[in-house]
Amino acid sequence: MNNQVTVFDHPLMQHKLAILRDENTSTKEFRELISEISMLMCYEATRDLPLQDVNIKTPMAPMVAKKIAGRKLAFVPILRAGCGMLDAMLTLVPAAKVGHIGLYRDEVTHKPVEYYNKLPGDIEERDVFVLDPMLATGGSAVDAIDIIKRSNPRSIKFLCIIAAPEGIEALSKAHPDVQIFCAAKDEKLNENCYILPGLGDAGDRIYGTDVVGEVSIDKRGSAIKLPAKAK
Ligand code: PRP
Ligand code: URA
Repeated sequence: MNNQVTVFDHPLMQHKLAILRDENTSTKEFRELISEISMLMCYEATRDLPLQDVNIKTPMAPMVAKKIAGRKLAFVPILRAGCGMLDAMLTLVPAAKVGHIGLYRDEVTHKPVEYYNKLPGDIEERDVFVLDPMLATGGSAVDAIDIIKRSNPRSIKFLCIIAAPEGIEALSKAHPDVQIFCAAKDEKLNENCYILPGLGDAGDRIYGTDVVGEVSIDKRGSAIKLPAKAK
């Protein structure tokens, strides 16, 4: 395996990913699971942040404790699906600044189309974490990182939940300096450039835009797909 890629195989991550992939998982559960997996990924992907000694006083005694050594972070979700990962990241690193890059994949060409771009003004001083649950052809990640690099950030990491081998190859080739983190490396892309086995369309499953016309509301108020026999 390319040593630029880290696949997190923690049992909690794999368990949550199995439920996330399941076609019967409701929109509400899907969003919650994206958040939980993102929080675990944030924990792992920030493992190399440098620490510095600080003098503090507990109610019992003075001591030298450790704090993160002044590294500034920025999180940049790729719209829409990347936004599903953002709140979890901010829960662990509330001081991070947030940029947004709007890209959608053209349905025919499967190439990314840019529609929005707003990055923190001081991104030159920041380590950037780009967020998107899906790395399929890699086109969106490559373009998003091209855009971010024009502003000269200190470093860039790419966090996704599922990566296709094709996407890993494209991203590693275009941006060999960018570390890739994922919870699973899947088999391949299908003829429509969707990841197999994957989880379907991440943005649609996060925002419930895939179930229009075939929904039921479960006991907790979540939209759920009607099983085939009930249609
Ligand atoms: C999905 C996904 C990635 C992109 C991955 O977004 O969230 O951004 O496709 O595909 P790629 O690696 O082949 O570029 P989509 O374009 O469907 O937009 P959405 O998030 O608004 O649903
Ligand atoms: N985008 C998705 O949301 N899912 C895929 O499998 C590929 C691209």
